Formats: sequence, C-alpha cells, structure tokens
Amino acid sequence: MPEPLVGKRIVLGVSGGIAAYKAIDFASKLVQLGADVHAILTASACEFVQPLSFAAITHNSVHTSVFEGWEGEHSGHVTLAATADLVIVAPATANSIAKIAGGFADDMLGAVLLATQAPILIAPAMEHRMWHHAATQANLETLRSRGVRVISPEAGRLASGAAGDGRLAAVDRLLAEARCVLGAGGVLNGKRIVITSGGTHEPIDPVRFIGNGSSGAMGNALAQAAMDAGAEVTLIAGPTVATLPIGVTPVRITTALEMQSAVQAAIVDADALIMAAAVADFRPAHPSEHKLKKNPDENTQQLELVKNPDIIAGISQPGLVKVGFAAETDDLIANATQKLQAKGLDLIVANDAVATIGASHSQATLLIPGHEPESLAEMSKEDLAGVIVARLAEIFARQVIS
Ligand SMILES: Cc1cc2nc3c(=O)[nH]c(=O)nc-3n(C[C@H](O)[C@H](O)[C@H](O)COP(=O)(O)O)c2cc1C
Repeated sequence: MPEPLVGKRIVLGVSGGIAAYKAIDFASKLVQLGADVHAILTASACEFVQPLSFAAITHNSVHTSVFEGWEGEHSGHVTLAATADLVIVAPATANSIAKIAGGFADDMLGAVLLATQAPILIAPAMEHRMWHHAATQANLETLRSRGVRVISPEAGRLASGAAGDGRLAAVDRLLAEARCVLGAGGVLNGKRIVITSGGTHEPIDPVRFIGNGSSGAMGNALAQAAMDAGAEVTLIAGPTVATLPIGVTPVRITTALEMQSAVQAAIVDADALIMAAAVADFRPAHPSEHKLKKNPDENTQQLELVKNPDIIAGISQPGLVKVGFAAETDDLIANATQKLQAKGLDLIVANDAVATIGASHSQATLLIPGHEPESLAEMSKEDLAGVIVARLAEIFARQVIS
C-alpha cells in the first residue's frame, strides 16, 4: 500500500516558540511512520527544548548552527537541502516566518530553506495578536505566493492563558499535511474519488432506527490510501463513523436516501465512486413522528419495510469507475459475480459479512470483469485499501489506453 512517509527524508525545522515541545511528539510520530527525520533547531528553539531530545527520537544528528563541520559527504546546509523530500517548520515563530519571507540565511534553518527545492510546509504558532498582525499575515502571503504551504494554526487556549488564534495545528493535522504533500504525484494523482463509509440509520420513530454495526473502518482506510496516492477524496459517511481522516471533503448523512442524494451530487466531477458503506437495504415505510408506545396487550409489533434504492446500480455516468463491496454470508463468489454484472461495476470487493463488519481485518476476493478472481490473504483494512487503490489505478491506466 502507498506509505508516503516510509523512507522519506524530512527536515524538521523547529523555531523558538512555546509549542517547540510539541515538535518532539511530531518528530516521534514521523519516525514511527517510517520517515528519516533530520531536525534543525534555531538558537531560540534551544531555549525551549534540548537538541538531545530530537537526536534520541530521530537517531540522527541535530543541526543548530550553519557553521557545523563539513565532513566527508556532508556539506552542511547544502546536503540537508539537497537530500530533503520535504521541509516542515513546526512550530514557526513570527520571527522565523519574517526571516524566511525575507530570505535570511543567518542560521541553519534559513540557509536550508533557501537552498532546497523540496516542498516546504510551515506551521505557525504564536500569540493571537502576533498571528493577526499585518506583518505576519503579509509575510505568510509572500511565502504562499512562492508555493509554501501554510498549515493554519488553531483557535483555543494559548500559552498566556488567554483564548485566541495561534495554537500550533494538532500533530495529526501536521502528519496529514505531510502525507498529502508526499503523496502528490502518486498513482491516483489528480483523481477525484468519492467514497462512502459506515452504516446508515433508517428511522422507525424519532428515537429508534434500523442500523448495522459498520464502523466505517474500510471506508476511512480507503480514503486515507487514496489521499496517500495523490487523490482528492470526498467521504460520505454515515452516523456510525466516529471520525473521518483529515484531508477529505466530508459529507455527513444519516439515511440511505440522504446517502443517495449526497453521492449523486458528489460524483458530478468525480473519476471514481467506491461504495464501501453498509447501506440499509430496507427502511421503515411509515416512520412515526412520535415515539411509539408499548401496547400492554400486544406481544408482537409489525413494522412495514420498503426497499431502499441500490445507489451504485442506479448510477451510469460515462467514464466513472464504479467499485462496490459484497459482504455476503453464503455463496460469496457467486453472489459477488452476479452483483458485479448486475450493477455494471468495474471492481467488486467480496468478503464475509459476519467476519468483516466491525472488524479490523478482512479476507477479501477482488473481482474485475475479464480477469481471474484475486483471492487475497487476510490483512488489515489499511493494507486491503492499499491493494484496492493499486487495482483502481490499473483500471484508470486501462481507460487511458482503450
Ligand atoms: C516564553 C516565550 C514564549 C514564546 N513563544 C512564542 C511563540 O509561541 N511564537 C512566537 O512567534 N514567538 C514566541 N516567542 C518569541 C520568540 O522566542 C522570539 O521571537 C525569538 O526571537 C524567536 O526566534 P526564532 O524564530 O529564531 O526561533 C516566545 C518567547 C518567550 C520568551
């Protein structure tokens, strides 16, 4: 599966703000995701955090001066700049932002930023008024106009105790931005993918519904894998999905009919639709406006159900690649093959409904028209998402050829 951080050389610039301690956690997460992290600390950053912390976490030397020794293959800022896949400044102080915008090279961070051709991410963190100051905003505008990506800070409690704008973006957001930059140019580069995720709730009355245990793990994993491969993702998620991956365009729905409308709106300019959601096949025909009361004389309760539309079968948009899921309890391959043909799909992922719904792993078979079934080993949903993304990229490649 695409792992955009694995083996990537990331230069992490840390400047002298109170949020510098968060950069230690960020460095650690980058390393855990397989990145080769090289930290540069400004002189002010060393007032807040120790270079040793970064050295211990990254297993690499930490750079604090542009005048460090040029030994062997290592030519100081020139080597760091030339070998970086990505440079991230987190936290970026108002002072560092001004210096970078002005092109100053009086420390290692400034010199590397001038010398590199790698993409640059800047995550500002400062006091509310410093953030909103016209000078800071103008400097950031200058940087954006040069292609630097700015990860806007968040609102909340600041170090002073006051509430305002200027908190360093959460580490998860920093990671998502880094993945996104490194994923650009991947096998789904420039593709727009619509993915549905989780289960729907079909109301019986204002407080009850028919639902299922789908967690949205597969849809979320697909969304992340597609973004890691360079795609833009719209994720249409049901109420059972707790959190969505950072970076998707999120669309929240509750019922199957809402999901159908959301899908129809989202696919207009999309290249592929992946229906990973567990959409209810039926909904109560007459949901009550009031909470249904228990009748003491009745031991049974009748509930009339009507069929929900088959969302993906009802879509025929020229050029749109359609990927479906078949979660079955019996005759898996026969049922999945029938669905593949009946719904006009380009790929169907067949798996055991009981084993897969709500689980972290899945054992799936991929069916593509004109190809032999591909039976996969049991693997995590993240790994399965990577395989599906690879097959999707192959389908796009065949579209170009034919
Ligand atoms: C306790 C303390 C906290 C600070 N926090 C920040 C901050 O969060 N953001 C910021 O832009 N500057 C902050 N500063 C000011 C910077 O440390 C100062 O502008 C310094 O020159 C930045 O140097 P550098 O950009 O080279 O790292 C803080 C200063 C102190 C004393």
